[in-house]
Amino acid sequence: MSVNATAAVTANVRLANATSKPVVDTEKGHRIRLFLGYLIVTALVVGIFAYGFNYYTLNSSERPFSPKHVLLKPSGTIGVKLGLLGLAMFLSIFLYPLRKRWAWLGRQGSSRHWLDNHVLLGLAAPFVIALHAAFKFRGFAGIAFWIMLAVSLSGVIGRYLYGQIPRSLNAAELSLKEVQDIQAKLGEQLAEQKVLPQSDLRALLNLPSPERVQNLPTVVALVYMMLLDLSRVFKIATLRRRHLSFVEQIFTLGGLRKTTHPELERAIEVAREEASIAKRVLFLSCSQKVFHLWHVVHKPFSYTFALLAIIHIVLVAMMGYFSF
Ligand code: HEM
Repeated sequence: MSVNATAAVTANVRLANATSKPVVDTEKGHRIRLFLGYLIVTALVVGIFAYGFNYYTLNSSERPFSPKHVLLKPSGTIGVKLGLLGLAMFLSIFLYPLRKRWAWLGRQGSSRHWLDNHVLLGLAAPFVIALHAAFKFRGFAGIAFWIMLAVSLSGVIGRYLYGQIPRSLNAAELSLKEVQDIQAKLGEQLAEQKVLPQSDLRALLNLPSPERVQNLPTVVALVYMMLLDLSRVFKIATLRRRHLSFVEQIFTLGGLRKTTHPELERAIEVAREEASIAKRVLFLSCSQKVFHLWHVVHKPFSYTFALLAIIHIVLVAMMGYFSF
């Protein structure tokens, strides 16, 4: 397979397709929709926060005298709608785990896309709920909020670990044999390409020995993994810089951004994927162990938060707050 075939598509697809012949970037539509999702949510949250800033910074006794109180208090015209939006987000967040249990739901769309939507909603929900609560977190609802925030923050670590386990296009974990086959193909492509000298690639592909990794305490191994991911960004920039003129180096922010040289970018994509997959294989047992433990924490906290949120919704419904 040519360097071209591997490098033309996105990171996750690239991994799964390293042994086939992909030509079309089928993920583009999803990426655009996701980007728009982040844009809309950010605009909404920032817009309402900016509008309500002089209200949210008042203390509880001053708020009823603000002209914005009727709009922004939790039961206000905007406040209650934010609560309903939070509820819709909350229900949608749970579609991802439900999908694994309901076969018909599981057949809709791809797992990876559902997870991306889960992450978008999971990150946005605490902001929307904080605005709904007008930044006053009390009682059941307050506890639910803090648990949701903890679940959301833990989700960021979970998402990182999820990405450390090599997966196929439908997000199923790949066997070690499948990963090694992909690695071998990437290695062949790297050896064939003529753009990047092998001596330059050595720094990028240099990893600690398996024995050393095995003896590391889990937390240290996790931090090490993250540092390797971070340092790869700069090593790739160094690789790029060697092929760029001074002006190009400035426009690409010292090689951090992609260049307009397709051959170079294709070779770099293969090198990046090879370095990334080699690191994931090296730390695989550690990632799997921690990801399993992470599930044990993320799940019960999510359900506790769901229970408290439901109690809160039932209580406000009984108090007649939905008669707007
Ligand atoms: C605040 C709202 C959130 C709730 C209530 C929530 C809830 C859940 C639940 C119930 C699961 C299934 C757990 C299991 O099957 O063991 C799950 C999985 C997951 N969540 Fe969240 N989550 C939230 C936010 C987030 C965020 C913000 C992220 C990432 C930034 C995230 C990343 C993940 C990942 C990576 C998985 C595991 C995927 C898998 O193994 O298939 N979650 N979440």
